[in-house]
Amino acid sequence: MNNFKQSTIYQIYPKSFCDSNGDGIGDIQGIISKLDYIKSLGVDYIWSTPFFVSPLNDNGYDVEDYQKINPLFGTMEDVEELIARAEERGMGLMFDMVFNHTSTRHEWFQKALSGDKKYMDYYIFKDGEPDMPPTNWQSKFGGSAWEYVPSLKKWYLHLFDVTQADLNWNNPDVREELKEVIRFWKEKGVKGFRFDVVNLISKPKIFENDTIGDGRRFYSDGPHVHEFLKELVADTGIEDMITVGEMSSTSLEHCVKYSNPDEKELSMCFNFHHLKVDYKDGNKWELMDPDYQRLKELFETWQTEMEKENGWNAVFWCNHDQPRIVSRLGNEKKYWKESAKMLATCIHMLRGTPYIYQGEELGMTNPGYKEICEYRDVESINYYHILLESGKTKEEALEILGQRSRDNGRSPMQWNSGKYAGFSEKEPWIGIPVNHKYINVEDEDKDEDSILNYYRKLVDLRKQYKVIQDGSIEFLFQEQTEVFAYKRSLDGQEVIVLNNFSAREILLAEVISCTGYECLISNYNRGKLEGDWKVLRPYESIVLLK
Ligand code: GLC
Ligand code: CA
Repeated sequence: MNNFKQSTIYQIYPKSFCDSNGDGIGDIQGIISKLDYIKSLGVDYIWSTPFFVSPLNDNGYDVEDYQKINPLFGTMEDVEELIARAEERGMGLMFDMVFNHTSTRHEWFQKALSGDKKYMDYYIFKDGEPDMPPTNWQSKFGGSAWEYVPSLKKWYLHLFDVTQADLNWNNPDVREELKEVIRFWKEKGVKGFRFDVVNLISKPKIFENDTIGDGRRFYSDGPHVHEFLKELVADTGIEDMITVGEMSSTSLEHCVKYSNPDEKELSMCFNFHHLKVDYKDGNKWELMDPDYQRLKELFETWQTEMEKENGWNAVFWCNHDQPRIVSRLGNEKKYWKESAKMLATCIHMLRGTPYIYQGEELGMTNPGYKEICEYRDVESINYYHILLESGKTKEEALEILGQRSRDNGRSPMQWNSGKYAGFSEKEPWIGIPVNHKYINVEDEDKDEDSILNYYRKLVDLRKQYKVIQDGSIEFLFQEQTEVFAYKRSLDGQEVIVLNNFSAREILLAEVISCTGYECLISNYNRGKLEGDWKVLRPYESIVLLK
């Protein structure tokens, strides 16, 4: 069995991590050059987002060839070296398998387009008139989820960009092809896998209009998804490897199934409900202040229910699709350091496997792009136009992107205070915020009190204490909206985690008696705690052990 309950995982977005050859784009040799740094965080696995051959319309989530490396990022030798160098340092690589769709440049789709029946059945083609898509389903990146191919007189389904065609998992040949991809990378020494939007792979038998939504209810956690996953895992022999599924608009019941070891599907699941608490009416493109009460309730439900049903959560705030958490739920100005540390504590003491997304450990912020020409992401650019069409002014649309764009998480890793933040010698493919002058690895590494060194301590605490790895969880102070608090317990040991989500002092509804407790970590460097405790300072975070 792998050790996923004790592990912490570091996520890399290669394009923005480190550029080794001065073309302004991060690459595999760049990652290799930073392995000692990653190791210094104490993490066990590195998940890298895709670097396979791709036209990069969705930065590699549009795969043209699953077994070849995009020359922009390096060569197969580089990837083999990466796997080997990481392994020497005791870290395993997790590769990103984008199996819901391929790029339309993939050989399979190209053959399908030429009318080859075998390959047409690899995708989801439907007959129809050129002006009448088969259903009213919407692409997640805006617009219809169907594209018409005049030469075939058929529509194909794309839940994401028009250049990302959905695969037909009902076709056993497709499933075999994808198993080959897993076997190929397993052979190369990859230690685990992340499966992209994997709960969308099973489409319904009948395609019908969605009269109340965008179609997602028909294909999220679809009819055969569990069967397909079980088959994929069994036939490739990856049941003992670390695996995580990215679950889009999923449910707790399904996540229990995906991650309960008896089901032999995956080690754990990402879900995103907690990252929608600032979406107005569930709409990402309508700004709203975060609903902290809802956030707490979601964590309570997912944490306690997954424990009860023996499922396992991936726990995280950040990834390459999300804005930076300190800009979102923290306070990037006055309490930058305190709030970044507090948010880190919330996640790292939970029951689940924590993920750190590159730069999160530095307290990197949203970059604050001001003009549409600074954005690169297909989703952001599509929605900018959709927002303008819906009547928003240019300023309003840019304000929304400034908070919601996926590019907020894609600005280059800040290595030092130098010209291009030590990321590259040339102007990078996407802009770097000026705050790299003080938010960067070089400076934070030297500073005992930095966010970076705080993350290192959190990772280390999980290694040291079984109660953090596997203790049961109970939420505290649920009626106090600004307080995010819980207790972990195992074999008579207890860990109490107290966090203040606000910029105010908070009087706890109940006194915490610290006598007999040791303070494991705190972001105000409280030192030894004694007696009764009832006030939390702004964004304060305290972890107590008994
Ligand atoms: C996942 C990826 C995202 C990508 C999408 C389509 O959500 O994280 O970056 O655009 O899947 O592959
Ligand atoms: Ca490069």
